[in-house]
Amino acid sequence: MDKDKLKATADQMVAKPKGILAMDESTGTCTKRFETIGVESTEENRKKYREMLATAEGLENYVSGAILFDETLRQGIGKTLADKGIIPGIKVDTGAKELALHEGEKITEGLDGLRDRLKEYAELGCGFAKWRAVITIKGDTLPTEACIDANAHALARYAALCQEAGLVPIVEPEVLMDGDHSIERCYKITSETLEELFEELEEQGVYLPGCVLKASMVLSGKDAQDRADVKTVAEQTVKCLKENVPADCAGVVFLSGGQSNEEATDHLNEMNKMSEAGDLPWPLSFSYGRALQSSALTAWGENIDDVSAAQEKLLERAKANSDATIN
Ligand code: 13P
Repeated sequence: MDKDKLKATADQMVAKPKGILAMDESTGTCTKRFETIGVESTEENRKKYREMLATAEGLENYVSGAILFDETLRQGIGKTLADKGIIPGIKVDTGAKELALHEGEKITEGLDGLRDRLKEYAELGCGFAKWRAVITIKGDTLPTEACIDANAHALARYAALCQEAGLVPIVEPEVLMDGDHSIERCYKITSETLEELFEELEEQGVYLPGCVLKASMVLSGKDAQDRADVKTVAEQTVKCLKENVPADCAGVVFLSGGQSNEEATDHLNEMNKMSEAGDLPWPLSFSYGRALQSSALTAWGENIDDVSAAQEKLLERAKANSDATIN
């Protein structure tokens, strides 16, 4: 493993005031997003859309890297990004499937053949990869320990393979915000998930300065009665991370996970505002998908051949989140 190279790439990915653009929706997810704007999900339209995002002028001032889906990388968009100084990355998991004997829970797949795929992605110019695990909260019964353990183990095996191939792994254990659970319950589950994840990463020998955590924030469930306010979310998220994320991890970037654009920005802003310089061992930034793209997607749907309005929306959100990384 080339530790120096991994650390240099990881440091570049999380260097403020930049974050990471998640534009790695699978064809299925992209099709669902296009349905909301009445655009047919053809390969050509998906390319047009991703080109619109990648060619937004000045995006490189706010974004250090972009996560792509296999199809998008092969459409040449990785090169477009790299030419403007944005590191292309690749989603390598093959999706969250039903976890056997555990109704309502998922295990992320994609380890088979991963070593060869990673080698090819490195040759195609990627600097990093992403793997997303999903953890569902339901009452007092879910998640099970079996689900947390299996997903943490898969994330660690993926991360080790990435580092062997010279790619920085983004490890993403997303605790879903679906449901009516309290913020306290989210704290407990996020804590258990992160603790298990870092134990597994250590066991597999993963080099943490060359590894980036993509975390979900500690939030009340989407349907909870009294949802915690911005300050509480920021405090609880930072507390949970400090307790569970080793200081030598390269950095933490957040997913938006269904938060509104403004919520996602406000939460990140509050966390960075309340942390004195030097107070946190790692940078806190963003790796949003929906919270960066949704207003741009709507604008693009008005006229898919006129990209300027959509790019303006993307840049507006990218700048707001970039500003939120600095206190
Ligand atoms: P959201 O910000 O839309 O949750 O997407 C981030 C992501 O990459 C999920 O894997």
